[in-house]
Amino acid sequence: MLSENPRTFETVKDVILSVHKASSAEDPHQIHFYNRWAQTYEQDVALLDYSAPSQAAARISAHFSGERQAAKVLDVACGTGMAAKMMKREGFERFVGVDSSEGMLNHARQSDMYQELKMAILGDQPLPVPLADFDIVIITGGLSESHIPAKVIRELCQAVKQGGLICMTTRANRDNVGYKAALEAEMKQMEEEGLWQRVEVTDVSEWERGVTDFDKGYIPGCVYIFQRL
Ligand SMILES: C[S@@+](CC[C@H](N)C(=O)[O-])C[C@H]1O[C@@H](n2cnc3c(N)ncnc32)[C@H](O)[C@@H]1O
Repeated sequence: MLSENPRTFETVKDVILSVHKASSAEDPHQIHFYNRWAQTYEQDVALLDYSAPSQAAARISAHFSGERQAAKVLDVACGTGMAAKMMKREGFERFVGVDSSEGMLNHARQSDMYQELKMAILGDQPLPVPLADFDIVIITGGLSESHIPAKVIRELCQAVKQGGLICMTTRANRDNVGYKAALEAEMKQMEEEGLWQRVEVTDVSEWERGVTDFDKGYIPGCVYIFQRL
């Protein structure tokens, strides 16, 4: 069903709503869902005007002051590679990707943008990279309900060098309200623990087109940038 053509907004809406309905027992980490969606993922999210990768890359670019070609970027929940593609346009060249779906990782591999790609179910398994090794961590589209638990942002922070930047995004629409609150509580707690400092939070009103009955038109989203202390 997921590879049917031609793709339209309605087809994509059905695909996304099917994941909301999928029983957690059948596919607790959405791995099968993303394995099946990988083939048409980029085409489909273009129909949604999905902007997380370009919004995140633009905000990182505004704050990163180092040598871009040399900077090591960890792309978490990399999917097919959309965030790395946007970062590349901003002058970054060295990427390591992590994702739980082999199907998505296969597409990322074909993009030839990553020096390394690793599979891990974050939340259940540790982030499979050395500590304090990266200049930047970026995660777009992975921090939401039934994807990556909010507590994993501690591991994202540990993956960057002191002074490195962590760029995270989440949706701000109705069905992600609880997750967003938990994410922001964890961010604040980490600030209070002196692990990182907030650099910028950007609210974006036209994040992507909504697909549920509650989300008419565009839904909002948010880009967070923190710096490791
Ligand atoms: C909406 S896609 C975003 C992909 C890409 N970053 C982008 O913005 O296009 C979400 C990605 O998160 C991955 N993912 C979901 N849960 C995960 C988990 N627990 N650990 C690792 N990756 C996960 C999925 O396989 C999928 O590739």
